[in-house]
Amino acid sequence: MKKNNKKITVIGHAIISRDCFIADAVGSMPPDLRSDSDWKLFQEDLYYSDLVMIGRTSYKKFPENKRNRLIPTNQINGYDMREDLCFFNPNDIPMNQILLKYKPYPKKIAVAGGQGVYQLVFEQFAYSEFHLSIKENYELKEGIHMIKGINQLELVNEYMNKHGMYQSDKRRLDSDTIQHRYLKS
Ligand SMILES: NC(=O)c1ccc[n+]([C@@H]2O[C@H](COP(=O)([O-])OP(=O)(O)OC[C@H]3O[C@@H](n4cnc5c(N)ncnc54)[C@H](OP(=O)(O)O)[C@@H]3O)[C@@H](O)[C@H]2O)c1
Repeated sequence: MKKNNKKITVIGHAIISRDCFIADAVGSMPPDLRSDSDWKLFQEDLYYSDLVMIGRTSYKKFPENKRNRLIPTNQINGYDMREDLCFFNPNDIPMNQILLKYKPYPKKIAVAGGQGVYQLVFEQFAYSEFHLSIKENYELKEGIHMIKGINQLELVNEYMNKHGMYQSDKRRLDSDTIQHRYLKS
């Protein structure tokens, strides 16, 4: 995929309940929303990424992590770039512009969510791939949806299609988790 005339791979990662939640009503991930196989695949992709994009709430849970992180926030004007952390306000400086501040330009970005981050990449940039793991037998009924207002898997699929992404592959990760892989058409 080419953005800013530069070659870049952007992979989104999410694990959702069958009613499409990424977290419960208090913003936590209950144990039943986790899968060891999904976690392993996610960690492997992080290892091969030169930048990880996460929301400020998720960042606050693991601030000491030493990965190179890009964090959208409404709390600042413009951006604040440090050694391995960059906070930016996407209303002031859009994602394609903040990426140009990186020297060298990132080759591979992992998008770890949550909701506002997934949506930001759909709206301001683009994904090359999206790895969507689904806990098929688990419903949360309330909490934070992966995409605001979308509570059915068919509607997630429609949303992906609307953003030019098509399901390329389905793989079973464990007895109750399936991963749908989307690719940019
Ligand atoms: N199941 C999964 O795959 C998955 C993935 C990720 C997270 N989670 C879970 O979900 C929980 C909560 O997720 P969340 O979606 O509420 O939080 P989040 O994305 O981790 O953080 C939300 C915060 O990030 C900033 N932000 C996000 N998108 C933005 C945008 N487009 N523009 C400006 N700022 C933006 C805002 O910070 P400011 O308040 O500073 O403006 C916002 O309050 C996490 O704590 C984690 O447990 C689950």
